[in-house]
Amino acid sequence: MTRVIAVANQKGGAGKSTVTVNLAVALGQAGRSTLVVDVDPQFDSTAMLGHAPEEAPATIADVFLGEAEAADALLRDAAPGVDLLAGDGRMADVELTLVSQVRREEFLAEALHEVVGTYDVVLLDCPPNLGLLTVNAFLAADEVLVPISMIDRNAYKGAATLLRTLATLRRRRVDVATLGLLRNNVDPRRNTYQTLNDALPALDAPLLDAEIPMRSGFHDATTEGIPLVLRKPDGRAAQAFRELAREIEARSVAPTATLAEVA
Ligand SMILES: Nc1ncnc2c1ncn2[C@@H]1O[C@H](COP(=O)(O)OP(=O)(O)O)[C@@H](O)[C@H]1O
Ligand SMILES: [Mg+2]
Repeated sequence: MTRVIAVANQKGGAGKSTVTVNLAVALGQAGRSTLVVDVDPQFDSTAMLGHAPEEAPATIADVFLGEAEAADALLRDAAPGVDLLAGDGRMADVELTLVSQVRREEFLAEALHEVVGTYDVVLLDCPPNLGLLTVNAFLAADEVLVPISMIDRNAYKGAATLLRTLATLRRRRVDVATLGLLRNNVDPRRNTYQTLNDALPALDAPLLDAEIPMRSGFHDATTEGIPLVLRKPDGRAAQAFRELAREIEARSVAPTATLAEVA
């Protein structure tokens, strides 16, 4: 069964794009067919995979504008074992035009419907806000993975806001689970890490065991367009992403009972 996971946190710099591309590569290396969908108008995950929107047959903006089907837009083997639905700067305008459309929150879910089933895992890299594109990702996803920067003093408040948004959607019967909070930018010697780490359990959301260490190599990997997991496969960061991939597989959520099973 395919798992569609939105990687979200409305705070910029939490590590959404870094986590999306490195987790995708780790899953690809574990033999899982993986699709990255770059929902963010800044298209950082596209760039972090070493690609430009122009290289793709079409982009996510073309899909939203009805000019391409998702299946025809895919950039195959953007990284080993990883396909990409490339991001596009025009998504900022697309978001504005969506506002006036009916079923504006379900657009992504419907557009991806045909392709998701052909993958083991689909990762949706969200923009740094809780706007319409992020809500589209939540409605297209089964689960939400929340990277938290452990050097950000305001990260607790930010995560609390995000979890409240998810709770509101669930009250509207949107079926989206919290996969977990993922500690990123981890340096246990820092005060901020200790303070946040003590506070996180109060959020009452699953806290993943895997922690992504703070490494300058992530930044270099971004400039070079080669995810750190590929660039330094023996490093501590790559190991952390392999642990994360395993943990996510182990936490596989029970499939929602079908109506027939309930009856
Ligand atoms: N674990 C980490 N260690 C060091 N730098 C990191 C780490 N995670 C992310 N970064 C850096 O922080 C910046 C923001 O990360 P990014 O993944 O783009 O965040 P977001 O997508 O949430 O805005 C990037 O320059 C990235 O290289
Ligand atoms: Mg990003």
